[in-house]
Amino acid sequence: MAELIFITCLNYLVLALSIFMLLSESPSPAYAASVQYNVVSFGAKADDTTDSSKAFQSAWASACGSMRAATIYVPRGRFLVRSASFKGPCKNLAITVRIDGTLVAPSNCNVNGDAGNWIVFRHVIGVSVIGGTLDGQGMDLWACKLSGKSCPSGATNLMISNSENILVSGLSSLNSQMFHIVVSGCQNVKMQGVKVSNPGTSPNTDGIHITASTGVTIRNSKIGTGDDCVSIGPGTNNLWIENIACGPGHGISIGSLGQDQEEDGVQNVTVKTVTFTGTQNGLRIKSWATPSNGFARNILFQHAIMNNVQNPIIIDQNYCPDNSGCPTQASGVRVSDVTYQDIYGTSATLVAVKFDCSSKYPCTAIRMQDVKLTYWNQLATASCAHADGTASGLVQPSSCL
Ligand SMILES: *[C@@H]1O[C@H](CO)[C@@H](O)[C@H](O)[C@H]1NC(C)=O
Repeated sequence: MAELIFITCLNYLVLALSIFMLLSESPSPAYAASVQYNVVSFGAKADDTTDSSKAFQSAWASACGSMRAATIYVPRGRFLVRSASFKGPCKNLAITVRIDGTLVAPSNCNVNGDAGNWIVFRHVIGVSVIGGTLDGQGMDLWACKLSGKSCPSGATNLMISNSENILVSGLSSLNSQMFHIVVSGCQNVKMQGVKVSNPGTSPNTDGIHITASTGVTIRNSKIGTGDDCVSIGPGTNNLWIENIACGPGHGISIGSLGQDQEEDGVQNVTVKTVTFTGTQNGLRIKSWATPSNGFARNILFQHAIMNNVQNPIIIDQNYCPDNSGCPTQASGVRVSDVTYQDIYGTSATLVAVKFDCSSKYPCTAIRMQDVKLTYWNQLATASCAHADGTASGLVQPSSCL
């Protein structure tokens, strides 16, 4: 009996030890040992009306100046924040912003509609934003824009610029005036479990915009908005997008590229396991019909489901809004090595596959494998201009490459 108890105890000891080791090896060791700065103790008020910007700013200054890993804590409730700029460089390379509540932007679009951004992280390294809701209260601005009056251009809910090793997990972004989340000039940014929500009618409200950044991943996220779910700008490398629900919105778009004569290219982009529902586009590459040295290459679109999507697969290199500045010009953007693999579902228009490439620099090495798109109960069609490539497996509509 004693021996049995001894063995059981030993088992518990081993178990306890392994749990302890597991915990101490968890990826955010900073977390447990970090100093905490609660924005309420800096004067923030969860009353939806008092501007808490200063309190957020002071909490940031403390965290940024601390030598120890730090957590800024935002408890439950609605905090009105006129604007917040979390700037580095910081002494601290492990700051967690843990949000249980909601940050609310001023509803009057004249307050920060011209500022460009609402919540900003700039020049920081090792910041994690966990949970929380950002409510941009953009209704006022959308109404102004839709009425055709002259309006401020609008603020991005969350701007992350010139930063490194960033995690955004479980964040909700609502009612942004303009783009929801912009990642610009960054390295190693992970976004997961992000929820983006705007009405399908709200103008210029891209969900997540990536530009001039390397090593961004977006996983397990749900994006419904009035413009692109994800838009991918010049200078984006090594981007990974996986398990996304998109709609309403304009789909996932590489571009617009080639607006500038001198422009960084886009390369090594993987978009996999995406469901598009009622969107304007599915998988799109888009460039201006103007001279440029830009490019898009080494792109993989894999495992996508289209539900009633207007342009499920599209390359449009003749983008020229209002036909001003670019009629009769050809895009300089070189599009090559683009693979579409296991894409199926329904198109809301007859032409489900459209490759409208540059007459000066035709698309090369476009590959289609196992694509099946239908238009109601008919076969959909495919249309190609200046596009070269191959098709394999079942491809319907049959390839025009
Ligand atoms: C392409 O990007 C992925 C991340 O999305 C990265 O793991 C891989 O190493 C990159 N490949 C090259 C050749 O840079």
